[in-house]
Amino acid sequence: MTKNSKKTKIIEDPELLINAGNPQGKLGEKLINNMNINHENLAQWGVNHLNISKDSIILDIGCGGGVNVKRFLKITENKVYGIDYSQLSVKKSTELNQKEIDKKRCEIKQDSVSEMSFEDNSFDIVTAFETIYFWPDIGNDFKQVNRVLKEDGIFLICNEALPKENDERQKEFIELLDCNIYSEEELIRYLKNSGFSEVKTEIKESTDSFTGEDASWICAIAKK
Ligand SMILES: C[S@@+](CC[C@H](N)C(=O)[O-])C[C@H]1O[C@@H](n2cnc3c(N)ncnc32)[C@H](O)[C@@H]1O
Repeated sequence: MTKNSKKTKIIEDPELLINAGNPQGKLGEKLINNMNINHENLAQWGVNHLNISKDSIILDIGCGGGVNVKRFLKITENKVYGIDYSQLSVKKSTELNQKEIDKKRCEIKQDSVSEMSFEDNSFDIVTAFETIYFWPDIGNDFKQVNRVLKEDGIFLICNEALPKENDERQKEFIELLDCNIYSEEELIRYLKNSGFSEVKTEIKESTDSFTGEDASWICAIAKK
């Protein structure tokens, strides 16, 4: 039995949840549709921390179903890009934003944060909603984000989880998805070590979008 097929007692639907890190197949599609709805409040809260102008060029990393790309296309008049390393996420984001892709105002591509093919100093804003848990090498990956941001560019991270001590469900989640949940201090340290000059964070007590249980949301706003 592989680690990922391990049945758990606490996670209600491990087969579905396992797709969060790299959505695939029918369950991946179900999860993406679910995330498009369930992450809306978190995304709105995060986006409120940004000053988006009509000239802003924006990249959303781990764009999933593409709702944040769509949201940004309504605010800026400039280009919006989305990347995701899941082929299915790229397909779903593309379908949702096809009209603006046809007008050459939007590009969605399959890419990993660790090896982004963008030139240095390309974006005013880079965003990451509910995705950094899965990034393979957070220090290097934040350096990549820093590289593609313009001088004074902003990186927004938005997560609906902080580490909880002695929380069996969270422990199982981390094992099942082979991911990391970062504390506020860790995020600040990794961002500063990756070259960001200023980092602000905000925490909000709210609920988990899938279980409805209490959860601490965090957003970090880092300036290059
Ligand atoms: C939990 S989903 C969140 C999707 C979307 N941002 C949202 O808030 O609904 C995480 C997404 O990040 C993508 N992802 C994970 N690791 C990635 C990486 N290293 N590079 C690019 N995308 C990644 C996954 O494929 C998945 O689509």
